[in-house]
Parts: sequence; C-alpha cells; structure tokens
Amino acid sequence: MSKMVGSNKYFFKICIVGDSEVGKTTILNQYLKRRFVPEAQRTIGSNFFVKYVKVPEIERLITLQFWDLAGQPRFKWVRYAFYKGAKGIVYAFDLTRKNTLDNILTWKEEVESKIGVVPNILVGNKLDLLTSENRIINLDEVSYIQQQVSASEYIETSAKIGTKVEDVFSKLTLEIYKSNIEGIE
Ligand code: GTP
Repeated sequence: MSKMVGSNKYFFKICIVGDSEVGKTTILNQYLKRRFVPEAQRTIGSNFFVKYVKVPEIERLITLQFWDLAGQPRFKWVRYAFYKGAKGIVYAFDLTRKNTLDNILTWKEEVESKIGVVPNILVGNKLDLLTSENRIINLDEVSYIQQQVSASEYIETSAKIGTKVEDVFSKLTLEIYKSNIEGIE
C-alpha cells in the first residue's frame, strides 16, 4: 500500500499513458506549472514530477508522484519498469485523432499486464481544437473504451488553455485515496 514519507502520510504514484503527441507532457505541465508549454519536447523514456496537494475531501497533504511515459512504441522496454507501484493511471487520447482513442485498449493491456486494474480516468485532450462541426469521435465510442478500462470518469481537457486539467487529478487522487484507505488508515 502507500508508503510513509516523513509526516506526509499519503504518497501516490500516478502514470499518464497514451499515444505519442496526445499531450501527456503538456497536461502535466499545465497541472504542475499552470501554464501552457507550447513546444513540449518529445518525451525520451520518461519524465518524473512531484506535487504536494490538498484535496478538499481529504484532510491531510498528499504527495503525488507523476511518471510521464513516452508514447512511442520504441520506448516500450523503458515503460514496463515504471508501472511498478502505480496507484492510478491517466489514459490520454487526442480528440482530433480517433486512432489514439482506439489505441487506449493497447495501453490498457500493457498497464494491466503489469499492475492489474487500478483507479483510472480517461482523458480526451485538445478540446480547444474542436468545433461543433469537426468532432470526429462520438460519445458511444468513448463510453465503450471507458468501460473497457473501467475508468470512473471521462474528462475532456485542453492542456493548452487549462480546461478541466485540475479536475482530472483531483478526481483521480480522491479515487486512489478511497480505494487504498483500508491499507493506510
Ligand atoms: P510524447 O512525449 O511523444 O509521448 O508526446 P506527448 O503525449 O507528451 O505530447 P506533448 O505534450 O509533447 O504534446 C504534443 C503536441 O500537442 C505539442 O505540440 C503540444 O503543444 C500540443 N498540445 C498538447 N496539448 C494540447 C491541447 O490541449 N491543445 C492544443 N491545441 N495543442 C496541444
């Protein structure tokens, strides 16, 4: 279960996965630094971040540790090591590219083969690029994938503007907390 880290009792590792260029690094930059980093460099292997948060429903401080995993298949060997100990997953796809939604099933297989099913959220990113005319992914398709990964929520974000990015992590943190509470109380 979650480890003790000094007086900071709750420590959750979260992995964000999804195809290359869906915006994983940008989502994390937006969440952690509250700004859009326009030319996020392609992730090589993995990035690692830490944030201390207070979720209103949980009284104590929580340490979130993020692993941002390169979406390119050639980094598959690196990614395996990083799922170990993950308490939550963000499955991210690009709302403008349907194949990135379909590929969530491949990501699910990879994740679950290592750590089984853990609390997770499905995220459709790049909402700012959508208009009422160019929405190519319908909600039935999304619901199907959401069920397949057992995601508690589906959230559409814009990492560029910051829309709903905060929601993703506060909801996931709460869910992880609830699912681990017996082991850490
Ligand atoms: P890998 O490191 O290759 O796995 O990619 P990634 O999923 O981390 O994607 P990254 O964050 O590098 O973003 C890819 C491109 O999409 C960058 O040019 C970003 O600026 C852009 N981008 C990310 N999120 C958004 C968004 O919400 N809206 C728009 N318009 N562009 C975005």
